[in-house]
Amino acid sequence: MSEDVILLEHDGPISVVTVNRPDKLNALNRDVLEGLGKAVEACVANQTRCMIVTGAGKAFVAGADIAAMREFTPEQAAEFASLGHRVGHAMEAAPFPIVAAINGFALGGGCELALACDFAFASTKAKLGQPEVNLAVIPGFGGTQRLLRRVGLAMARELVYTGKMIDAAEALRIGLVNAVFEPDQLMAEAKKTAALIASKGPFAIAAAKKVFNEGADLPLAKANEAEIAAFGSCFTTSDQKEGMAAFVEKREAKFTGR
Ligand code: COA
Repeated sequence: MSEDVILLEHDGPISVVTVNRPDKLNALNRDVLEGLGKAVEACVANQTRCMIVTGAGKAFVAGADIAAMREFTPEQAAEFASLGHRVGHAMEAAPFPIVAAINGFALGGGCELALACDFAFASTKAKLGQPEVNLAVIPGFGGTQRLLRRVGLAMARELVYTGKMIDAAEALRIGLVNAVFEPDQLMAEAKKTAALIASKGPFAIAAAKKVFNEGADLPLAKANEAEIAAFGSCFTTSDQKEGMAAFVEKREAKFTGR
């Protein structure tokens, strides 16, 4: 079932994952979350070098499925939040960068899905926010913690306490998205950046992603140690030899992923 609500398209080293429940603005229910987890696994098996996440229709993802959550017990709610967190962790643990292409509403769990990506691009039509307090709940898929790490504590507090929606220009201003494009340019630009990432040595990209994610919560000295170890590990690869040889020989490097 989850195959229908998630579309997965591989184009060589670039994979596009589309949340496909447009009649419900791609709201995240159990099927969608499990499908996203499977899509990440499929991309690992495909040796994807950059994954793009987007939404079908006018929304990126308009949140966790409110109708499905309505009658949850506290235990069921916590279990659902854990599922959302498992997906976020799987995205962060994937050895390739993930880019959110925010084509429309990215609210609640949708904003959290974008935050679990390495970075986000948005269309001028995007609207972002954490409106959970309007329903008398809080973000449950990492929204408080990843949002504060992305935009800072004071801005995260304002967004979560007010539940307000912001437009793409404001999201760009506060660093929630990296760039804003016209709607018909969004996927092309996301693919262009994905292709640039995919052209680099994949071991180095995976090492950089790991150090970014693990280092962010360590004291600086410890995080720097992680970087030193990861830098050293790059020199176990033939891609490092090729990259440096190509520079010295004034030619383009041909990376093999080894
Ligand atoms: N969960 C479940 N269903 C949702 C949903 C969500 N988070 N967001 C939208 N939908 C459904 C609507 O119920 C509607 O279904 P229906 O046609 O069967 O009635 C359909 O998607 C279209 O949404 P609609 O509200 O008619 O679109 P709109 O353009 O008028 O408004 C939003 C768009 C995003 C402003 C509005 O849908 C909204 O506020 N959604 C909830 C956002 C939210 O609170 N997210 C956090 C959840 S914790």
